[in-house]
Amino acid sequence: MYSNKVLETFANPRNVGEISDADGVGTVGNAGCGDIMKVYLKIENDIIIDAKFKTFGCAAAIASSSTATEMIKGLSLDDALKIKNADVVEKLEGLPPQKIHCSVLAEEAIAAAIEDYRAKKA
Ligand code: FES
Repeated sequence: MYSNKVLETFANPRNVGEISDADGVGTVGNAGCGDIMKVYLKIENDIIIDAKFKTFGCAAAIASSSTATEMIKGLSLDDALKIKNADVVEKLEGLPPQKIHCSVLAEEAIAAAIEDYRAKKA
């Protein structure tokens, strides 16, 4: 059901945890499954210098959080917003159709964290 990449990432997720002095924090959830994802960003000059996550969810959600936070490190905020769930799914070498929403959570959590940062800055 899951690709080897998903299983490997789930077993060894990167960027698990929180950033105590995060510049932006985004929390999203899926009402259908009840899973919750929280993303913390450290931002300098509009560049994401660190990203961490805490996910209470399924293997696909944890693998998606790990992969998405890896993908956005070093990117500008605008470039990070261009990372879509389909990009995360591709990196994970696919997700079962009923698990696509787990990757959407990662996209949404990053967008929410960037929005939080921009709202605080404004
Ligand atoms: Fe809901 Fe995976 S089943 S995030």
